Amino acid sequence: MAEPRKIIIDTDPGQDDAVAILTALASPELDVLGIVAVAANVPLKLTEKNARKLCELAGKPETKVFAGAIRPMVRKLVTAEEVHGKTGLDGPDLPEPTMKLQDQHGVDFIVETLMAEPKGTVTLCTLGSLTDVALAMVREPRIVPRIHEIVMMGGAYFECGNVTPSAEFNIYVDPHAADIVFRSGVPIVMMPLDVTHKALTTARRIKAFRDLGNRSGVATAEMLEFFERFDEYKYGTDGGPLHDPCVIAYLLKPELFTGREVNVSIEITSELTMGATVVDWWGITKRPKNAVVMGGIDADGFFALLTERIGRLP
Ligand code: RIB
Ligand code: CA
Repeated sequence: MAEPRKIIIDTDPGQDDAVAILTALASPELDVLGIVAVAANVPLKLTEKNARKLCELAGKPETKVFAGAIRPMVRKLVTAEEVHGKTGLDGPDLPEPTMKLQDQHGVDFIVETLMAEPKGTVTLCTLGSLTDVALAMVREPRIVPRIHEIVMMGGAYFECGNVTPSAEFNIYVDPHAADIVFRSGVPIVMMPLDVTHKALTTARRIKAFRDLGNRSGVATAEMLEFFERFDEYKYGTDGGPLHDPCVIAYLLKPELFTGREVNVSIEITSELTMGATVVDWWGITKRPKNAVVMGGIDADGFFALLTERIGRLP
């Protein structure tokens, strides 16, 4: 097998983040150098605790978990307890974590790791706001050319927004951070709502997780049954979109996705469209092509991958 791919996961667990983290920890193709929790779905003290709960659920208490930014760079923190519950990981009753949170700040961990690892060997996988990545870039600009690529869940274009009519939550929480990251020149693979809304947690797909019979599979089913109720009601669909695991699935099987390299620019001035990801799909402007924006997914192949990987866990 080729050398495992080194990744740092920046996340705001979050049930969909949880499925992404479990899949990553179950996959030998990936070397998870660290998990950095950021405030977004719920406050930081919960996202970092949830990240540690998930590492222990996966039987990986040696994973390094860090606390990152406690709030966005400029705007007030907006959270999403209505979607994820008051703990941010409602559904299963997971035990309080015993593994320790790392003392180092998550942003310092990102900078230190990128400066220490060989140039171009570390991929940043962001599942929440881009605050930590933007702060790291501002703190140490020398990391920018050292990042292999950023694979991120966030944004929306043809699908329109989920937190406002024009903005997706991860970008909306910290649009200024997103603007810094999308202007950085680092290669970006973007998983917007346009693709995640084609990956619905139908009853059959949730049953496949539960039928694994292991604690990780049962917990995944319980998380998704809680998580999907908000979007099922909102969109009137069978199941809700499973956003964040698209990032990890792309690393494992990129052929599951189709997209286009285009310019993506972030709205940071108009309150009406704050956090909108303006995608130049038809190349109308001369703005640089800074992201591969995904729009297509083999949803059955996606869920088969997630189920098989989570089946490898305790
Ligand atoms: O808009 C969906 C994104 O916002 C997902 O990452 C979900 O976990 C929330 O963070
Ligand atoms: Ca998330």
